[in-house]
Amino acid sequence: MFQHVEFYPGDPILGLMDKFAQDPRTDIKVNLGVGVYYDEEGRLPVLECVKTAEAAIANPPRPRGYLPMEGLAGYRSACQRLLFGENSAVVAEGRVATVEALGGSGALKVGADFIRQWFPTAKCYVSTPTWGNHISIFEGAGFEVGKYPYYDPATIGVKFDEMKAFFKGLQAHDVVLLHPCCHNPTGVDLTPAQWDEILQIIKDKQLIPFMDIAYQGFGADMEGDVYAIRKAVELGLPVFVSNSFSKNLSLYGERVGGLSVVCPTAEEAKLVFGQLKFTVRRIYSSPAAHGAYVVDTVMNDPKLFEQWVGEVYEMRDRIRAMRQKLQDVISAKVPGRDFSYFTKQQGMFSFTGLTPEQVARLQSEFAVYMVENGRMCLAGLNSKNVDYVANAMAAVLQ
Ligand code: LMR
Repeated sequence: MFQHVEFYPGDPILGLMDKFAQDPRTDIKVNLGVGVYYDEEGRLPVLECVKTAEAAIANPPRPRGYLPMEGLAGYRSACQRLLFGENSAVVAEGRVATVEALGGSGALKVGADFIRQWFPTAKCYVSTPTWGNHISIFEGAGFEVGKYPYYDPATIGVKFDEMKAFFKGLQAHDVVLLHPCCHNPTGVDLTPAQWDEILQIIKDKQLIPFMDIAYQGFGADMEGDVYAIRKAVELGLPVFVSNSFSKNLSLYGERVGGLSVVCPTAEEAKLVFGQLKFTVRRIYSSPAAHGAYVVDTVMNDPKLFEQWVGEVYEMRDRIRAMRQKLQDVISAKVPGRDFSYFTKQQGMFSFTGLTPEQVARLQSEFAVYMVENGRMCLAGLNSKNVDYVANAMAAVLQ
C-alpha cells in the first residue's frame, strides 16, 4: 500500500535537535542549530512577564472552550499594535484583517493558502538563501517557488542591485517573501534606504509583499525592526505580515503567531478576514488557547508589556555580547581573516561561511552543532562555552 511513499530524510534544522539530544557528550556539546534563545546558563528561559501572566490566568482555572476561528480579540489587536503602531491609521480604519495562527509557520501556511486560492497564477519568490520552511510551505500550498538574489558572500552583504533588477522582472501579483529584520539564515538585513527603494519597486510592479517577522525586538529594537512593514503601509501596499511570539516571548511550544493582511479598504478587509477564517477552519478549525491568553495578558497590561520589552532587550543584548566575544576570540586565533561579520549581522543568526564538511567536523570532532548551510545560532553561546566554540571553529578553519 505505501511502498510508493517517498523517504523523508528529516528537517535540516529540527532534525538537528534530535541528533543533539542523543549526543552522549553531555559535558562539551553545544547547540547552535535551531533558532532558540538559551540564557547564560544554557537554559530555555521562562520570561518573568510570562510567569506573572500564567499565574494570573490560572486563578481561577479557565474553562477550555474553543477560541473563534480567528483567535482571541485581545491577541489580534496586540499583533496589530506591535506591527503597525499604537496610532496606526490603517488599523483605525478597519483595513487590517488579522487572525491568530499556529506560530509563524501556521501564519505563513494560512497566508499561502489564501493567496494561492485568490491569485492562482501568482508565483512566490524567496531570498537566496532563506529559511528552508518558506519554500516547503509555499510549495506545499501549490506555488511554484523561485529565488531572488539576496546574500552576497563576497561582501557579506546584500546583492542589492541584482535584487532590484530581479524584482523589476516579476509579474503583477507575484509574491515576494521578505524578512523585515534579522534575516534567517544570514543575519544580513536591508537598510531603511534600501527598503524604501525595494518597496517602491514592489509598488510599481504591483507585487504582493509577504513579510515574515519572527524576531521582532532582536534586531534594532521593537520599532526599528518593523520599519519595512510600516513603510509598506505608508506606500499603500497590500502587505501580508506573518508574526511570531515563539522567540520574543520564549513560547516556542505554544505555537503563538499571527497573520495580518493590510487591505486598500475596510470592505475588502472584511472579505479577506472572512476567507482567512475559512482557511483556518479547513486546516485546523481554530487556534490554541493557552498561549494566546498568555500573550493577551502580557501585551494588554502596560506594566507587563514594559517588563516584556525589557526582557526581550536583555536577550538581544546578551546575543550581541556573545557576537563580540566570539569575534574577539576567533580573530585572535585565526589571524589574517576578517570576522567582523559576527558583530555586523543582526538577530540570532550568523552565516559563518563554513562549508558542509567543516560543519560536519564541528559536530563529529567537537560536538558543536550548527545547520549544514553554515548558519549558527549565537543564542546558544554563553560565557562558559564561547571559547570552546571559537577554538573548535578555528580548528576546522585551518
Ligand atoms: C529556525 O530557523 O531555527 C527556527 O525558526 C526554528 C524552525 O522551525 O526552523
